[in-house]
Amino acid sequence: MNVLTGRRILVGVSGGIAAYKTPELVRELRRAGAEVQVVMTRSAAQFVTATSLQAVSGNPVRDTLWDPAAEAQMGHIELARWADLILIAPATADRLARLAHGFADDLLGAICLASTAPIALAPAMNHVMWQAPATRRNLELLAADGVHLIGPEVGDQACGETGPGRMSEPADLARAVTELLAQGLEGTARAPVHSIGQNQPLLGHHVVITAGPTREAIDPVRFISNHSSGKQGYALAAAALAAGARVTLISGPVAESVPVGVTLVAVESARDMHAAALTAAPGSDLFIAVAAVADYRPSTVAEQKIKKTDRKESGLSLELVENPDIVAAVAALPDAPVVVGFAAETHDALAHARGKLSRKGLDAIVVNDVSRQDIGFGTDENAATLIWADGEITLPKQSKADLSRAILDTLIELFMPRFVRQLANTNPDNAAK
Ligand code: C5P
Repeated sequence: MNVLTGRRILVGVSGGIAAYKTPELVRELRRAGAEVQVVMTRSAAQFVTATSLQAVSGNPVRDTLWDPAAEAQMGHIELARWADLILIAPATADRLARLAHGFADDLLGAICLASTAPIALAPAMNHVMWQAPATRRNLELLAADGVHLIGPEVGDQACGETGPGRMSEPADLARAVTELLAQGLEGTARAPVHSIGQNQPLLGHHVVITAGPTREAIDPVRFISNHSSGKQGYALAAAALAAGARVTLISGPVAESVPVGVTLVAVESARDMHAAALTAAPGSDLFIAVAAVADYRPSTVAEQKIKKTDRKESGLSLELVENPDIVAAVAALPDAPVVVGFAAETHDALAHARGKLSRKGLDAIVVNDVSRQDIGFGTDENAATLIWADGEITLPKQSKADLSRAILDTLIELFMPRFVRQLANTNPDNAAK
């Protein structure tokens, strides 16, 4: 028997364009055996009709707190008691704000407040609204209240932009609801339900990432650089953003496009990157140095283009001086975030990386074997070992996007207590306690 058989699900619909998918969601839930009642808000009616929702749910749709017939029987209390689970899909930014603050001036708000059933939200909104500080604050309040979050997904949006804020697909929502009820029914740990804690573990945290190569000027037209494509660093920035973090990406010149929602600080030289890192890192939670920083730069930069004819006799030699070590400088900050480096090695990879871990004062280091042709610089795939003081994990060859998620998941597992402490330290309310 399906977990949803006979379960009573109240589907709340608020006013976002994704409401056009809600009838399909209702059908999925009913196909799986659930009983469904639908409550819609006034603005939801701009996007989907009560008639459609009534047809697919098989029940009259409620949309007002001021229905004399229904409220004669205390309809909102009845619905609140009836539900085994309340799923709001789509949940707009406005609905999140109302729920977070306990507004009960419409039927859906009153039901949520009057019910002890678990509440799950499927947010859907423009990516900038999703990442707005007010929405972040509301999500933190809702997380503290035990509200579950399903999605949102990263992808194309109705506004024509791309980013996090797309409502999850009806089939995925139905699956997540099944998992949620299965946990409640059997009281055992199951496959993780997407909730704020699991799906957006970096909500409220700031991640700073360096990526790409640096360029060290020789003269106005020439520079020393390397083959770094920035792909791994940009993939990590996208993964951190999807995990809910505010992301600052300090990048040398690359051809990658910046994930929408990530703050880009574009730099050229190692010294620019060093200055940008020391500006962004204080107060952040996690600093990941993926950039292939040039270790040396020419000691002087010629003001004019160096002419071949000038040098015919003597040849040209460049005097190089060492660049600052950016990741080590961040690790040495008084209130340093969790600091993670990358090491590209061609031999004795793990031993060399362990040396760098302690020499640079890092919390963890991701080691790549760049002697392999199929992974590393410029390729779309990568394999790595993540090393920390008393452990390591091998992450097999996979896309740079998947590898980024695997790296982040491990870092979150290892260091989350430190992120949370930093969040507490930077919150003036907590500092005062
Ligand atoms: O010493 P090595 O260059 O192999 O160390 C690699 C790690 O150190 C990477 O995380 C890289 O981003 C960082 N690094 C740095 N500043 C430098 C050199 C390397 O942040 N000047």
